[in-house]
Amino acid sequence: MENRIEQIEAEALASLSNASDMEQIKSLSVKYLGRKGLVTLFLRNISELPVEERPEAGKQANITKKRLEAVFEEAAKRMAAGLSDNSGAIDVTLPGRPAAQGSLHPITTTTRRICSIFARMGFDIAEGPEVESDYYNFEALNIPKNHPARDMQDTFYVSENIVLRTHTSPIQVHVMEQNAPPIRIVAPGKVYRCDSDLTHTPMFHQVEGLLVDEAVSFGDLKGILESLAHQIFDEHIRLRFRPSFFPFTEPSAEVDILCVMCRGKGCKVCSQTGWLEVMGCGMVHPAVFENVGYNTRKYSGFAFGMGVERLAMLKYGINDLRMFFESDQRFLRQF
Ligand code: DAH
Repeated sequence: MENRIEQIEAEALASLSNASDMEQIKSLSVKYLGRKGLVTLFLRNISELPVEERPEAGKQANITKKRLEAVFEEAAKRMAAGLSDNSGAIDVTLPGRPAAQGSLHPITTTTRRICSIFARMGFDIAEGPEVESDYYNFEALNIPKNHPARDMQDTFYVSENIVLRTHTSPIQVHVMEQNAPPIRIVAPGKVYRCDSDLTHTPMFHQVEGLLVDEAVSFGDLKGILESLAHQIFDEHIRLRFRPSFFPFTEPSAEVDILCVMCRGKGCKVCSQTGWLEVMGCGMVHPAVFENVGYNTRKYSGFAFGMGVERLAMLKYGINDLRMFFESDQRFLRQF
């Protein structure tokens, strides 16, 4: 007898799975669970079973009845919502799968920002090779062989005369070789130095700048760099030009900005000096102009070079350079 109720249930489920509209579900519900339905009749007829079979059969039939009621109700609900399994429709109520969205790396954002500030001031964007000849990386920039300035740069040598560029300054030379003045370019890119510790990575990014025209002065350089600093940080940031040395500029200067953390009071970030060094610059050395065949009596120019990681760290308050290169999603997702 138990088999009979199991049979009824299996039959009901099979028919239901073929039902393709609400009418069919309703009529199946009546056929099995209605007043004269098969399950109802089975329950009613339990009294005709042998006494010892009645309790078990009754229990089974009630379980089946409950189960079918739930299944029919669910099927009716899904059909009403247009979600019947049988129609092949897509369940539009399921939550969507979130599409992981990428974002720009803070170094990319900072580089683009610097370039767009210069673009608004009329500068073009230039690029150059990361694998350079000794000539472009050093010689043409007035850094001869055995010059002590080469030691500052911890060069990766590919072969005797080929290096991974140690700075973006060689792009200046390429641009000047291929174009007559006036020149106004900024050149972003990766640079490489054999150096690795808390504040140095073997690869980092620079943006180089070059402006050549008639009667360009150090005052023009100061004005352009001040405008840059005001746009990257804010209009209250002050700049300080400190005399320095680079073989490719004369005079040369290092540019400090008032510490963005303590505003000059002195703190850990600025080593209590109140100032932060952010780039090198100067008036293009006549020897460099001569190397590219520019008339040094007619033209003058200025150049500058800045580290993108350094600016990004100051801008976003990041205290560990290595964060930029670890691809940690938790870090990158903040930008
Ligand atoms: N190339 C220099 C460096 O990597 C930075 C620099 C200094 C670039 C002075 C310049 C400049 O164009 O005029 O340290």
